[in-house]
Amino acid sequence: MSRVALDEKIPNNVNLSSDKRLQRALEHWQPAFLKWWQEMGPVGFQAHEVYLRTAVSVDPQGWAQFGYVRMPEYRWGIFLADPVKDRTIGFGDDFGKPVWQEVPGEHRNALRRLIVTQGDTEPASVEQQRHLGHTCPSLYDLRNLFQVNVEEGRHLWAMVYLLHSYFGRDGREEAEALLERRSGDADKPRILSTFNEPCDDWLSFYMFTTFTDRDGKYQLLALAESSFDPLSRSCRFMLTEEAHHMFVGETGVGRILQRAAELLREGKDPRQEGAIDVPMVQRYLNFWFTLSLDLFGGEISTNAAHFFAAGLKGRAHEKNYEDHVAKDGVYVMEVPEDGRLVEKEIPLRSAMNEVLRDSYVQDCEKVVQRWNKHLEGTGYQLTLPSRRFHRRQGAYAGHYFDPQGRLITQEEFERQRDEWLPSEADKAYLRSIMHRPVFTPGHFANWIAPPPRGIDGKPIDFEYVRYNEA
Ligand SMILES: [Fe+2]
Ligand SMILES: [Fe+2]
Repeated sequence: MSRVALDEKIPNNVNLSSDKRLQRALEHWQPAFLKWWQEMGPVGFQAHEVYLRTAVSVDPQGWAQFGYVRMPEYRWGIFLADPVKDRTIGFGDDFGKPVWQEVPGEHRNALRRLIVTQGDTEPASVEQQRHLGHTCPSLYDLRNLFQVNVEEGRHLWAMVYLLHSYFGRDGREEAEALLERRSGDADKPRILSTFNEPCDDWLSFYMFTTFTDRDGKYQLLALAESSFDPLSRSCRFMLTEEAHHMFVGETGVGRILQRAAELLREGKDPRQEGAIDVPMVQRYLNFWFTLSLDLFGGEISTNAAHFFAAGLKGRAHEKNYEDHVAKDGVYVMEVPEDGRLVEKEIPLRSAMNEVLRDSYVQDCEKVVQRWNKHLEGTGYQLTLPSRRFHRRQGAYAGHYFDPQGRLITQEEFERQRDEWLPSEADKAYLRSIMHRPVFTPGHFANWIAPPPRGIDGKPIDFEYVRYNEA
């Protein structure tokens, strides 16, 4: 296994000290990153000690170490999964040839664009979540929020390392620009629209970490297949971190449902008790799931076809497919035409975004099934809306569908909008029940059930975040 240098200014397992130029360039970027963290990271709590895990190796059996850390002192670094010996290209026109350790000139622009787009989402999500600490439902949840935030910061490091190492001057400029764009800013927004949406209540946070971080999982799975080996290795390690983010989201929503179900079984109305009712959870699910679907890109995409043909971005778990060249296949989908849905045959390579979206939707279905277990006997069930519903990108954007995927008029959509998507009243209600944080160890806000167990074997009433005067 590769050696992890934790004692260096930038912890890494890429033997950074052997490349002085690169080391200097990254040590120059480091203070800019820290300045961004102070300005745009979690508001408050920077002097608190947070019980965080830190990556200390890339070995799946023991890569994390837990302990109290002040967030600005978190050991952000560069970790690549170990190389796979004699790895060959797994898909596309160059299937079976050796993978690349350097960027081929003809793929330089496309690879840089893929890396910058992925990299931009990482700080964006930290910016979206920066105010949540002040309304946390418990210290346990506060710690989980900050764990997600510092790891998204590390994911930014992962992409910046690739930009600095392999893309020369343009790469360094892109790395600076990653710290200059701001989520939701009118003049210099983040690249993808979902990452410019506010995420300012905890129901949105849990939905975001369930659905938007899960989009991240599928993008990373597709990039982990890349012929550009350093990108593949970066993404493989990022996936191990991503799993916790999705755990935070899924169990967060699960605990909200558990609380609602408890009240329903007692014959009470969750809203009357200051908890969150199931139809509202459904509306937030509809919103964040559909926004996350947009992140996969157009259903029919020449870019996706090129990325696949060139071996830059594959499918999730490419080895599970039989045909890795995908030159002749077709993908059948329904697209709106002249006011109705018509079936179209799309060349498979041009449908690669949709193929990845399929894997994602299947994964989301399983999450909803697990959530519904909490609701047994209450008369309520959650469902995923159709992937045509509420889309802002791709073939379905600009048309109106109900959650079942039926084409409807804009008027019909607007009339039922507040039944399907979060309304102003929903947002005001969530603000009213989340206006005060819960900082007492072992205590939880009334709208959420406690988790079954703590983090790292610690009890639920452990002081996951504490304030010590330095
Ligand atoms: Fe990430
Ligand atoms: Fe994440």
